[in-house]
Amino acid sequence: MPEDAPETAKVRTDDLDVIRKELLRIGVRFARWHAARRIPAGADDSTIMKAYRSHIDHVSAEGGSQVVDIARMTSAPTDPDRPQQRDPGRDKFLTEHFHDEDLVRFVVVGAGCFYLHAAGHVHAMLCTGGDLLCVPSRTAHWFDAGARPSYTAIRFFQEDNGCAARFLPDSIADRFPTLDDLLATT
Ligand SMILES: [Fe+2]
Repeated sequence: MPEDAPETAKVRTDDLDVIRKELLRIGVRFARWHAARRIPAGADDSTIMKAYRSHIDHVSAEGGSQVVDIARMTSAPTDPDRPQQRDPGRDKFLTEHFHDEDLVRFVVVGAGCFYLHAAGHVHAMLCTGGDLLCVPSRTAHWFDAGARPSYTAIRFFQEDNGCAARFLPDSIADRFPTLDDLLATT
């Protein structure tokens, strides 16, 4: 989507070759992994780490990752008194920001959309279980797993404090469709 025309999708595709090519234009790498066995939605950290150990070791060595952890986003029970209340955790990631180190995520189960703002466009990259995304440091982006998130991902960090988000005061994220908006128009 052009940064000044959020409603205009220039390319919308699930063709992996096209996705890889488009992302490479902005220096982003994308790959799809296969686990040795299927990971259940409620799997604990050690089960996930064990299932993907060889992949994790490979990515860590390639990117110089010192820290690997697992992030989860799941639906919080709705407060019956405040049904419209948004999850503050979701709102935080919905603001445009960047990091001083590469953003490397592997989605284990569920789905999340990375909005990558580079070269005058916003690339909304929907990642689902098995997808690895490597985004260069200082690339402006935001993230949405939807109003009812189901997202578990392995995160790779080069430094302990590398994940600190630097928020942009002129974030354009509000002007763009959320993940739920995008899925509703599929
Ligand atoms: Fe981020």
